[in-house]
Amino acid sequence: MPDIKEIESELGIDTKAAIIEPVQHPDLAEHKIHLHIKRDDLLHPIISGNKWRKLKYSLLHALNKEHQHLISMGGAYSNHLHALAYVGHKLKLKTTGLIRGEQPKKDNQTLSDLRQWGMELEFVSRGAFRELRKYRNYDSEPAKKYDGFWIPEGGASHEALPGVGEILKEIDMDFDTLTLACGTGTTLAGIAKALPGTKKVLGFSALKGGGFLEKDIKKLLHTKGMPNWSVNFDYHFGGFAKSTDELISFMNEFQSHNNIPLEPLYNGKMLFGLFDLIKNNRFKKGHNIIAIHTGGLQGNRE
Ligand SMILES: Cc1ncc(COP(=O)(O)O)c(C=O)c1O
Repeated sequence: MPDIKEIESELGIDTKAAIIEPVQHPDLAEHKIHLHIKRDDLLHPIISGNKWRKLKYSLLHALNKEHQHLISMGGAYSNHLHALAYVGHKLKLKTTGLIRGEQPKKDNQTLSDLRQWGMELEFVSRGAFRELRKYRNYDSEPAKKYDGFWIPEGGASHEALPGVGEILKEIDMDFDTLTLACGTGTTLAGIAKALPGTKKVLGFSALKGGGFLEKDIKKLLHTKGMPNWSVNFDYHFGGFAKSTDELISFMNEFQSHNNIPLEPLYNGKMLFGLFDLIKNNRFKKGHNIIAIHTGGLQGNRE
């Protein structure tokens, strides 16, 4: 039986490195808000942030079933495929990545890493890619086609939830609200499921028109209501991977106060949104917030 602790140590996952740091910013002092950041980006140099959290128990499931081939899907800059390819490389498992859209003339750095770590890449049309999104179980259609263990886009499966929930065991301070960026909503669902008492989790959608998001989160949680979570859709900056000068100048300003690297796809948008809500007095004075840095810094490369 594979031992997940041994696998974590073989991969070099370091939960102690993923510290909680106070955030410095004049807006926080002015509005009397306490903000810390859980540096999950420091969990591992490559399998950073929510990537490992979401993959952990899917991987264990695959290994328990003696699968040697992991298949998944993502965009050409996918943090999820990047982490998966590295895990496959380290654990000597075969990996296949189904990539959205046409093959670019020249590999970007993410694709080049995927190939270097031995991931087989197959570029699929946007239409076919959309179709693939409906396969959510490890043994669904692509698993049969490619003869392996299927992991949905972004690692969005029920099996991802307990791994994400483990973040809470590493938070040894009191707080009122946790915030994080949402793509598929799986990370938010894992946190919401594990969150004790009256505490709340607030997600910021990185996608425009993410109307599916609340529905998907409810599905993952097997619930109809939203007792301890909500998603804000106001800070997508035009859509996934879209950015504006305003967002970049916010990130630069944030980084002038804090030595914390950000990327504009997820964490930059989440913090921009959070600071905007703080400036608009949407949190009571004295409110304690912990923002989860979900990593993804590899996507900053060309
Ligand atoms: C850096 C980063 N943050 C946040 C997310 C969103 O996570 P989720 O898809 O679980 O909502 C992703 C996607 O996995 C990501 O790569």
